[in-house]
Amino acid sequence: MKFKGVIFDLDGVICSTDEYHYMAWKALAEKLGITTFTREDNKRQRGVSRMESLEVVLEKCDKKFTDEEKLALADEKNEIYKKMLVNMSPADLSEEVKTTLDKLRAGGLKLAIGSSSKNTPAILSRLGLGGYFDAVADGNCITHSKPHPEVFLKAAEMLSLEPSECLVVEDAAAGAQAGYAGGFKVAGIGEAAKSGYTTYPISTFSDLLKVAL
Ligand code: BG6
Ligand code: MG
Repeated sequence: MKFKGVIFDLDGVICSTDEYHYMAWKALAEKLGITTFTREDNKRQRGVSRMESLEVVLEKCDKKFTDEEKLALADEKNEIYKKMLVNMSPADLSEEVKTTLDKLRAGGLKLAIGSSSKNTPAILSRLGLGGYFDAVADGNCITHSKPHPEVFLKAAEMLSLEPSECLVVEDAAAGAQAGYAGGFKVAGIGEAAKSGYTTYPISTFSDLLKVAL
């Protein structure tokens, strides 16, 4: 076994909520009269906090907002996003992800979540994964979001493991950078597979069986 634990990002790794984030930010942008918000912009929102994601949208807006107004805009986006999550169920957890998680665990690895999202508990519960992971570090327990390594360091600590003993799994460039900054080896999927901070680029989730066991 190459590692003792695996720490997974949530959005875009365990489930496809990254697409919902994009659609919800796009809806908010359009409400603000911004018609130029693109998927390229959305890539920069991946892995970073809700408030930092909002700044990526507001870069395209001439109007200036107070901190209070920004909080209200972030809340508005989150309400749109939460409506998209309402129909999420265990059927949204792919067979490949579930089987791979079970095999990694059966192989003796501890499994954790390391996500910037404050919606993590609700999403895990909708997917039928509430209580599945040995540790969950998320946006509710950190002060710095990725590319800062705090959330991964917290997850490793909750597993009572050192960063060198854990593999981080990411889809976002900021997430791969966070893993590297924390002293972890990183398996990168999607955008993160192209990151210079990624140790193991993978093309599909089940490739983790070759990387981690
Ligand atoms: C990350 C997403 O997982 O969570 C980001 O990749 C998002 O795009 C961040 O901004 C915060 O999410 P939430 O659910 O707390 O708004
Ligand atoms: Mg992600």
